[in-house]
Order: sequence, then structure tokens, then C-alpha cells
Amino acid sequence: MYWLIGINLVERRGVPKILIPISAGTGSEVTPIVILTDQAENLKKGIVSDYLFPETAILDPELTISLPPGATAASGMDALIHAVEAYTSMNATPMTDHLAVRAIELVSANIRTAWANGNNLEARMNMLEGSLLAGQAFANAGVTAVHAFAYPLGGEFHVAHGVANTVMLCAVLRFNMLASLKKFAALGKLLSPDIASSDTKMLAEAGIRFMEGLIVDLQLPRTLRELNVPQEAIPRMAEGVMKVTRLLANNPRKITLKDANDIYQVVY
Ligand SMILES: [Fe+2]
Repeated sequence: MYWLIGINLVERRGVPKILIPISAGTGSEVTPIVILTDQAENLKKGIVSDYLFPETAILDPELTISLPPGATAASGMDALIHAVEAYTSMNATPMTDHLAVRAIELVSANIRTAWANGNNLEARMNMLEGSLLAGQAFANAGVTAVHAFAYPLGGEFHVAHGVANTVMLCAVLRFNMLASLKKFAALGKLLSPDIASSDTKMLAEAGIRFMEGLIVDLQLPRTLRELNVPQEAIPRMAEGVMKVTRLLANNPRKITLKDANDIYQVVY
């Protein structure tokens, strides 16, 4: 199967696919991406092909109720981050914005309940719907630098994908916000609708503060130290980020090697 790893290397559509997610996170049931572990190289690798889009996706919240709280939080944050990154991507369109906004509404309003009471079927269904819409948004608009910074954490230190994204989220959003204040202000207004301000920077910061509060509530790690990632690893992880050109191209702010080092240092 290794010859399929990469972009557009699958030669035909194959058998019809019916995909049924058992977590609300990746959105894989509506994306052209498969991630698998290369056990020889100890790395996660991706197969990307339009032939991987399924013919049918089925969302059944009962299949997600046994997912433990920690995995519910981490995978749910991954879904939220897909939507936020698609919304702020350089490739966002009015169509992907509609998908991303609804995904952000659904996941941000239900993730705490799904985490605190996994048997709540309404919250679980809303998480699945949000995760699917986020998948459709990022399958078209792409994800950005949060995912690029998360990859070295997953590759070298085996940090779970959703956890790695969550740790990097607020530092990257704060870095990106100045390049796209209007979009980040809209995001802030969406996440904190009660905020009474018309100042775009204040609104943008309100969105990031919402995320910080959410991460605290979900008891997810917020620093590299909590993940046992040594500070000495930062320079080589920063170099790793610079290689994720496919995602950095979507990022609203250009990132230099120094920026990448600085961002990792902020979350150390
Ligand atoms: Fe992701």
C-alpha cells in the first residue's frame, strides 16, 4: 500500500465506500484524505486522492457515546480547528465559510457537554454534524499553520493529533490574527456574541480568549512542557514546520523560520 502514499497516486475509484465515523473529529468521512501509520519509519503518512471521497457517509451518534472524555475533547478540538483554519485560510470561499461557520457554531456549543456527559446523544449528534461540515470546509479551503505546527509533535513525540493541534492553537491564531483582522474579528463575534465592541482587534482577541477558556474547561494540555517535549527540540521542530509548505501556503500570514521558533517558544 506504500506506493499510494502521496497526492493523486490512487489510480481508480475502487469499490463504493460507506464511511461511518466513530469519533467526531477528523471529518474523514467527507474528505479525500486517509492517514495511516508507517510502522517502519514511525511516522504518520497521508494518501490524498479525490477517489477517496466516499459515496455515502452515515452519522450515528450512538457509535460515539463510548468514546472517553479525553478522546472526545481532543478529537472535538481537531474538528473545531479544521473549521477555524478553513475559515481563516487564504483559500476560503463564501461556500467554505458557510460550512465552517456552522461547524464552529455546532462544535463550540456542544463540545463541553459531549466531554462532560458522553451519553448526551443530542450533543454527540451535533458534534458529528459539526465535524462533517468542518471536513467539507477544509477539504476545499485547506487547513493552515496550526496543523503544520502540530505535525512535528505527532511525528517525533507521538502526541495525539487533536492534542498537538490544541496546544498550538492560540499561539498560531494570535500570530495570524494581525494579517486578517476582519476575518478574525468575525470569528470572535461568532464565538463571543455578547461582546459589545466594534474594535476589530478586540473582537479578534475575544475569539482567542474563548478558545483558551475552552481548552481549560476540557482539561487539555496548553504547553509543550506538559507533553514532555524538550525545549532543545524546538529548532528542529521549527525546521519541520517550514517543510509543510502545502499548509503554510494556506496560512493568512507568512511564517519565517524565526517565527516558527518563536511560536514554539511561546507555548513551551
Ligand atoms: Fe486535523
